[in-house]
Amino acid sequence: MTRLPTTVSVIGGGRMGAGIAQVFAAAGAGVSVLETGDTAAARQRIADGLAKAADRGKLAESPDGVLGRVTVIDDIAALPPATELVVEAVPEQPDLKIDVLTQAEQVVGDHAVLASNTSSLSITELGAVLRHPARFLGMHFFNPVPASKLVEVVTAAGTTADVVDQVRTWVRTLGKTDVVVRDSPGFATSRLGVLLGIEAIRMLEEGVADADAIDKAMELGYGHPMGPLRSTDLVGLDVRLAIAEYLYTTLGDRFAPPRLLRDKVASGHLGRKTGQGFHTWNQ
Ligand SMILES: NC(=O)c1ccc[n+]([C@@H]2O[C@H](COP(=O)([O-])OP(=O)(O)OC[C@H]3O[C@@H](n4cnc5c(N)ncnc54)[C@H](O)[C@@H]3O)[C@@H](O)[C@H]2O)c1
Repeated sequence: MTRLPTTVSVIGGGRMGAGIAQVFAAAGAGVSVLETGDTAAARQRIADGLAKAADRGKLAESPDGVLGRVTVIDDIAALPPATELVVEAVPEQPDLKIDVLTQAEQVVGDHAVLASNTSSLSITELGAVLRHPARFLGMHFFNPVPASKLVEVVTAAGTTADVVDQVRTWVRTLGKTDVVVRDSPGFATSRLGVLLGIEAIRMLEEGVADADAIDKAMELGYGHPMGPLRSTDLVGLDVRLAIAEYLYTTLGDRFAPPRLLRDKVASGHLGRKTGQGFHTWNQ
């Protein structure tokens, strides 16, 4: 069992992929990031994250030193064959995820562990077409990755105990805490977080209280670091809606997306990233 994978491949250099690449590189791993969109923007996201970490005194070396261990590529065939861990962080679309995982498995060696950062999709279904589903699991990082303490480790029925133990060790080496959750819709975090979020939206629809009051109620009354509407703004209303739709089809009516959520997404009010969601944000 190794404390840290020597070589990590991250697929998707967006918000999550950049953060995942940053934390593994900062811990000492060599990281390849596969980004089929804007590769320069992906590299910049990692550089910005490292600069922020350095400002906060959280980096043991210079940002450039860490960035020297990161390679951004645009062709899946260029993933290093010596990769020990692949983390997939492309958009939340099952076919796309299955496609990149299947292709990655053919490039990296048979010993590699493959993981998906999906927020809600079935790990069992994503892994079903892989040659080695026993080496596949969910590694659900949180946003923003460098500051978040938790990684939800999601196991499918076939994931071997060795692979789970190895991944838990790697998570701890990153200075994070793991919780192991059996594969089920929404795992533990998305299932509870989305349910709280959509109930808060229903309360807003019903005029029970305004957004600020609902958030303060949970922040001060229950000690949540962030209220459910502010948290929905941060995740993205479009992302929350997609997860709610999926949980509605898999777990039932209690996850039915509220009208207000659909309307806000339709009018482009997606939360912090657009400046307007349930609250107004300075960009
Ligand atoms: N944003 C969050 O708060 C959050 C939290 C936890 C998990 N997640 C999950 O993480 C995953 C990624 O989310 P995100 O917010 O980083 O999305 P994002 O849109 O910021 O990033 C996705 C990146 O993948 C790239 N991409 C698309 N197709 C690709 C391909 N075939 N090969 C390589 N790169 C490709 C895109 O160009 C983009 O840069 C999703 O499954 C999401 O559900 C998101």
